[in-house]
Amino acid sequence: MEVVIVPDAKAGGELIAEAMAQLLRRKPDALLGVATGSTPLPVYEALAAKVRSGAVDVTRARIAQLDEYVGLPADHPESYRSVLRREVLEPLGIGMGQFTGPDGTAEDVQGACEAYDKALVDAGGVDLQLLGIGTDGHIGFNEPCSSLASRTRIKTLTEQTRIDNARFFDGDIDQVPHHVITQGIGTILEARHLVLLATGEGKADAVAATVEGPVAAVCPASALQLHPHATVVVDEAAASKLK
Ligand code: F6R
Repeated sequence: MEVVIVPDAKAGGELIAEAMAQLLRRKPDALLGVATGSTPLPVYEALAAKVRSGAVDVTRARIAQLDEYVGLPADHPESYRSVLRREVLEPLGIGMGQFTGPDGTAEDVQGACEAYDKALVDAGGVDLQLLGIGTDGHIGFNEPCSSLASRTRIKTLTEQTRIDNARFFDGDIDQVPHHVITQGIGTILEARHLVLLATGEGKADAVAATVEGPVAAVCPASALQLHPHATVVVDEAAASKLK
């Protein structure tokens, strides 16, 4: 695992956007796995700036979703499909035809999870998966004690994650869904390159457990230690509890 400490979130965003740009120059139809939440926004802004300046061509790039709320209509402004359309696809000028994600509204949720794992394999696998990390060490929505071999499946959000995400629902925790579909840890580990970005002091404990703790299901992100090509990009605040 490679750990890169950057001065701030903007620098982290620039570094990762450049890694994505280099991948796309090498492989124009690369499949980029993207996360939602606040942390990756500087990455998406930096990548969109590169597209606008002509530094990278994303016309053939493909985008894959990491997780999705169960039961929110796809056109709900806070469904992750909507969020990614707004924050990633539209700024990059990529159409929904180049996007793949799990169906959070399917009646057969288990079937939708299996179909998504198959879709990722059929697409040739994720080339670069961008990850954020929860304060409890979750990646995707694999909360603590998720199996490190897990596949895409339905999970129940912890109270803490629902509290953390209430800010996207007018601060009202009752509006935050209880369930999500998330790529499993085993699914995430199949991406060719994992890039985790963590910023701010609130992530410092989770980063220390990820990088320096044992590989253990209590800290799902520690599974990155098992991956042959994992990069953890942290700002100084998030790195503050590393030895
Ligand atoms: C979202 C996701 C989550 C977030 C994590 C951190 O797609 O996969 O694991 O990355 O909850 O969220 P922020 O970045 O908002 O602190």
